[in-house]
This record gives sequence, structure tokens and C-alpha cells, in this order.
Amino acid sequence: MIKNIAKKILPRFVQDKIRKIIMIRNKTNSYTREVFNLKYQYKKDFDIIKERKAVYNSSDISFTKLQKDLLYHFSKTGLFLGELKDYYQRSEELLQYLENLSNTVKGKTLEEAESLNLKYEEKYNMNSRGNFVNLYHPKKDINDPIKDFLTDPSIFTMAAKYLGEIPQLMMVQFLFTPNNTLNPSGPMLWHLDRHHDSVFRMFINPVSVQKENGATRGFPNTYNEDDFYQTYPYFSDEEAVANGFNMNDIVYMVGDAGKFGVVDTCQNFHCGSISEKERFVTIMTFVPYLFKGDYEADNLIGDRNLFEKENKIIYDYFKNN
Ligand SMILES: [Fe+2]
Repeated sequence: MIKNIAKKILPRFVQDKIRKIIMIRNKTNSYTREVFNLKYQYKKDFDIIKERKAVYNSSDISFTKLQKDLLYHFSKTGLFLGELKDYYQRSEELLQYLENLSNTVKGKTLEEAESLNLKYEEKYNMNSRGNFVNLYHPKKDINDPIKDFLTDPSIFTMAAKYLGEIPQLMMVQFLFTPNNTLNPSGPMLWHLDRHHDSVFRMFINPVSVQKENGATRGFPNTYNEDDFYQTYPYFSDEEAVANGFNMNDIVYMVGDAGKFGVVDTCQNFHCGSISEKERFVTIMTFVPYLFKGDYEADNLIGDRNLFEKENKIIYDYFKNN
């Protein structure tokens, strides 16, 4: 009512002035609230990280000779390729499970695979998925050898050592790429992942994976990001890379069933999935607690929350050792 009276008695330019003042005040309020929330979030994250690092630093973990070799090589190059059985006692059980999973879609088209399995997939939609289907979903209360692997100290302590803190399990995928990539795009082109400074990303071949199956490949971590992105802001095609990079440096995650690879995909240029033949691969990622500040990480945090139980098991291990 006051507004209506004001409308009648105040000249138009005064009304406009008042409206402007109110708008600026509202904008300033919401800005202040945002800054406060952000600062509060940073403080909360910082406290959590401090606490997690303290727990990690006071824990006592030891490594076998093979684990030490992996960590030494991986720290130097950001790349490693070996055999799963050398790092995980129950490798046969896990490989059997992965092979069975492959068999459910072997020889199928993308559409056939989707109609069978996409019901498990909550996150991806038709636009973001690209040329592959993720057949893994963390099902609750069912025997899951992938989760057993990821919560085995022999595996996550290596991730911890590399990252220098208690690792967070962020993402697990079992990817199926049918065949013949026609138009490579997105992560099929050379790139760095931008969500963290460093990651411990593991690959297991569930069946034989060769170059023509679209095996993931990576350069050592010695190449400079600025040179690489001069012409292509985020993704570079084969030609652009061939100009400045030594293609003989590329390491391919190839090998028979049971081949075990690790790549720091935030430090090492990599790509995968350009295939002439069908490809299966298990990809599992451990990350530091903190995301890179400039990254829209909502969907990734969603992923991390899928593994709340596993992340607690990992945290508790360091707390008790
Ligand atoms: Fe990537």
C-alpha cells in the first residue's frame, strides 16, 4: 500500500532513484552472504584437511619391494604399467568377476549394451556419455570384488603415499566401447584432467586390451602445459601433439587380462577410447580431499559420495595404524 501511495505522490525520477537504492542494497546483501558462505566453506575444508593430514602423518605404513618400485617409478613419470597379481592377493577372484562383466556385453552394439545396463547408471545422460557405456554401479549390500580391491590396504596405501594424504575414492568405472570411433571428441583427444592437482588413477584390463581396442595412453609428466595448450585450449588432436611432443614417449595401457596401470591424469597428458575393436577397461580413481578451486565439481562430489562407506573404511585404517 505504501508503494502505491508513493507511486502517486512522488515524481518519477525519485521513484527510480529509490528503486535503484533498493536493488543495490539487495545485491550487496546477497554478495556478502555468498562471500561469507564461501569463506566458511574454505575454513571448514581447511580444518578437515588439517585433521586428515595429521591422521595420515601419524600413521605407520610399510611397503613391499614391488610397491616401493611402483611408487618410485610413478612419482618420477606419473605413469606405471605392471601385473595386478604383484600388488593384490585376491587378483584371480577380481579378474574372474571383471571377465564375467565383460561377457554380458561382448559383441553388442552401444544401444544393445545401454538397454541392458544403463539402468545401473545414475549420473550420465545421453549428451555427456560419448562413445562408451559405464557398466559399473556401486550396488549396496552385494558382493562386489571391485570394492574389496579398493578397500584393501595394499592398494589404497600406495595412493596415500603418492598423494601425501588419506586418499578419497572418487570414481569407479567399467567402460565398454563397442568399436570404430568415427569422430573423436572430448576425452578421446589429448588432455589433462582439471579437477585436482594430482590423482592416482588405476586401470585394470579385464580381458586383453591392445592399441586397436582404444587403450588409454599417456605422456610422461615432463611436458609443459603451456606449450600444449597454445592452439587448443582444452583438448588437442593427434596432429597438434605430433608437432611438439615425442610420440615415442607415449605409454599405452595395453596387455592381457590382469594388466595393471596407473596414470596421474591431472599431471600427464592422456586420452583413450579411440577404438577399431571393442574395448573393456576398469578405471578407478583416488584423489586428494580438495578439488581445484576453479572447477565445477558438483557431479564429481556426487560420485565421491557414492563411496562414503569405502572412504570411511580407508580413513579408519589410517586412524588405527
Ligand atoms: Fe581424462
